[in-house]
Amino acid sequence: MQDADPDTAFRHRHLLGIEGLSPAEIELFLDLADSYVELNRQADKKRSLLRGRTLINCFFENSTRTRTSFEVAGKRLGADVVNMAVAVSSMVKGETLIDTAMTLNAMHPDVLVVRHPESGAVQLLSEKVDGAVINAGDGSHEHPTQALLDALTMRRRKGRLTGLVVAICGDILHSRVARSNIALLNTMGARVRVVAPRTLLPAAIERLGVEVHHDMNAGLADVDIVMMLRLQSERMHGSFVPSTREYFHFFGLDYDKLRRAKPDALIMHPGPMNRGVEIGSEVADDIDRSLIREQVEMGVAVRMACLEILAGRRSNLPPVS
Ligand code: NCD
Repeated sequence: MQDADPDTAFRHRHLLGIEGLSPAEIELFLDLADSYVELNRQADKKRSLLRGRTLINCFFENSTRTRTSFEVAGKRLGADVVNMAVAVSSMVKGETLIDTAMTLNAMHPDVLVVRHPESGAVQLLSEKVDGAVINAGDGSHEHPTQALLDALTMRRRKGRLTGLVVAICGDILHSRVARSNIALLNTMGARVRVVAPRTLLPAAIERLGVEVHHDMNAGLADVDIVMMLRLQSERMHGSFVPSTREYFHFFGLDYDKLRRAKPDALIMHPGPMNRGVEIGSEVADDIDRSLIREQVEMGVAVRMACLEILAGRRSNLPPVS
């Protein structure tokens, strides 16, 4: 039984992944984020809900939109936001992740937003600190706030998630975005297809409850949403595709392949995009079909909702995990 009271519907201390969240918990984030979209479009965007709270962004891996949007989200809600500069931090001097976590913990942050190249590292860190931890991407494991912002974007445009057919295309193997999106979309009753060459799919991907395709023309047939993913070469050891030119020919999104999708199908990409590799410029920039910029806008609203739920309301409730 889900608790309908929004103040008690999410009783976890951290947001580490989508896996294990209930439909009601996901909806709680999406409904609250929806209200922040409107606030963010006003001239005065500032609220004081998190006044006195401290958020530390700890990004042990590069980021543009995720880190910036957490910073913007925290500031809009009145929190003090600190960006830890990892490249000049003591980690470079050999300090372990746990020691770094303990050091930051001693400064009493209310929220730590953490990105790390190793799967599981954010969970490990969350066990050592007193504040709430939000996973901003751990290796190829989970990226929960990306899946929430993608869901909000889809729900606002299509009016629902249940029953939507979503094709996630490209480098599924290395993608935490794909894993979190598959978990969320399955939980909310959408139908997920993955479309990728065999080399870019994890073994036993079917067990995640997706339909598998190795051909874009078949994979995109009658879908509502086409979600393209970047070739994550920084996570590849060795060569996974013969050449980026050939990859674009077979798996890159262009109008020719998009024709297979529903006439009102929309295009998504979490960014950063590699134009001419997984997506052609003409489709990426098509204002009638592409939601890529809207995804960035929804990212701020979703992160405000995450901060409110994890730091703004919860202080008096005993967390369940
Ligand atoms: C993604 C990430 O870092 O996992 N980007 C993002 O958060 N917007 C996807 C990627 O890097 O390709």
